Amino acid sequence: MTLWLGDGDMDKFVIQKSSLKGEIKISGSKNASLPIMAATLLTDEECRISGVPNLADIRTMIKILEVLGKNIEFDNNVLIIRQKDKKSYVTPYRLVRTMRASFCVLGPLLARRKKAKVSLPGGCVIGVRPVDLHIKGLRELGAKIAIQKGYCIGEAKSLRGKHIFLGGPFGSSVLATANVLMAAVLARGETNIEYAACEPEIVNLALFLKKMGARIKGEGTPLITVEGVDSLGGADFKVIADRIEAGTFIAMALATGSNLTISGANPFHLTSVIETARKMGADIICKNSRINVKPKRVLSPVNITTLPYPGFPTDLQAQFMACLCLADGISMITEKIYPDRFMHVAELNRMGAHIQRSGPYAIIEGKKKLFGAEVMASDLRASAALVAAGLVAEGKTQILRIYHIDRGYEKLEDKLKGLGAKIKREKQ
Ligand code: UD1
Repeated sequence: MTLWLGDGDMDKFVIQKSSLKGEIKISGSKNASLPIMAATLLTDEECRISGVPNLADIRTMIKILEVLGKNIEFDNNVLIIRQKDKKSYVTPYRLVRTMRASFCVLGPLLARRKKAKVSLPGGCVIGVRPVDLHIKGLRELGAKIAIQKGYCIGEAKSLRGKHIFLGGPFGSSVLATANVLMAAVLARGETNIEYAACEPEIVNLALFLKKMGARIKGEGTPLITVEGVDSLGGADFKVIADRIEAGTFIAMALATGSNLTISGANPFHLTSVIETARKMGADIICKNSRINVKPKRVLSPVNITTLPYPGFPTDLQAQFMACLCLADGISMITEKIYPDRFMHVAELNRMGAHIQRSGPYAIIEGKKKLFGAEVMASDLRASAALVAAGLVAEGKTQILRIYHIDRGYEKLEDKLKGLGAKIKREKQ
C-alpha cells in the first residue's frame, strides 16, 4: 500500500502573501468515497474504486474495513477491496472517534452480517452532531438497536422495507440517508426514504450500489425508493470529484484576487457556490468540467445561508467567510446546519478581521487588509479558511495543528505551490 503521509500532527504551515495563477486539478471526493467504501461490506466479491483521494480519513476507513475482515490494496488513488475469511462486526472507539463517517458501516453490517457493534462517534468541534436519525431509520427497517457503554449494538435477523421519514431539526442528513439506503438495498420489499439528502455524494453512493446490483430510484431527490434484492456483487467504480475542494479553490481565487482555472470538477455540483462568487463580483465561466474564476479587485459583500444541497454548503462557510473579511461592506452568514460552526471567527479576528458572532449568525465587516499571525486550525474547513486568509494577509501567517487539513485536502500545499503560493510545511 502506498500512502502519502502528511504526518500533520506536528506540522504547521508558514504562509506569505501570494497571488495565484494557473490551473488546478481537483481530487476525488472524500465524502463520496467514505460511504462507498462502507458499502463494500454489502458483498464478499471484489470491488475496485478509483479516484479515491489519499487522505487521513480514507486511511482511517481502510483500517476500519480491515478490522471488519476486508483485505485492501490502495495505490495511485485506486482501492481494491477483497473479503478475507475472517469477518467481524465490531468497529472500535479508537477508530470511530477520529472520524464520524465511520458510523456509516452500521447499515451495511446490519444488512449483510446481521449484527453490528459500532462505537458512537461522540462530540466534535463543529457541534453536537447526533446520530438519532441513523438509528431511527435502521430501527424502522426492523433492526434491534441498543446503546450500551458508548456502543451501538444492533441485530437484524431480517430487514423489511418501509416508508421512512428521515427529516431532522436541521433538515436532511447525508450520512443517515447513506446508512439507511445501504441497509434498505438488502431488505425485503420496498423502502421509501422521505426527506432523503439530495447531495451529489448520495447520488454517487446510489450509483455504486446500483452497479453492485441494487434497485434504487429517485436518488438526488428527497424521495428515494429502494426495491430490496437478495444479494449484491462486486463493482468497478469511479468516485466524483470533490466539490468542496473545488469550492475551496474558488474561495482562494476570490480572497487573493487571482485568476484560476479549476479542472476536473462538476460545475453543476457547485451552482449555489458559483452564484455566490458571482454576486461577490467574480466573473466565472464554466465549460464542461472546467471552472474559470476571474475575481474583481475589490469583492462585494453578500449574505450567505448554509443549507442542505442544493443550498450553500456548510463545508464552504469558513472559506467564504475568509473572503468576506476583505469585501467592501458588511456581510452576514447564517449557519443553518451546524449553528456552532464558528471556531474560525476568533482566529480570523486575530488576523485583523472584524467579525461578530451571535448564535448562528456572523456579521462580517469588510476590511482593506488582513495581517499575518500565529493561528490555530480547529477543524478541516476552518483550516482551509485560515490558509485562504494567510495567502492574502500582510506578512507571515503560521497555522498550527494542520493535521486537520491532512484529513480532507489531498496535497494542498503542493497544489498551492503549483499555483505560485508561498507556503511551507514545517515542524511545529
Ligand atoms: C456530512 C459531511 C460533512 C458535512 C455535513 C453537512 C461526510 C463524511 N460528511 O456529515 O462534511 O458538513 O454532511 O453537509 O459526508 N443530524 C441530526 N441527527 C442525525 C444526523 C444529523 O440531527 O442523526 C443533524 C446534524 O447535527 C446537522 C444536520 O443534521 O445539524 C446535518 O448533518 P448531516 O447531514 O447528518 O452531516 P453528516 O452526514 O454527519
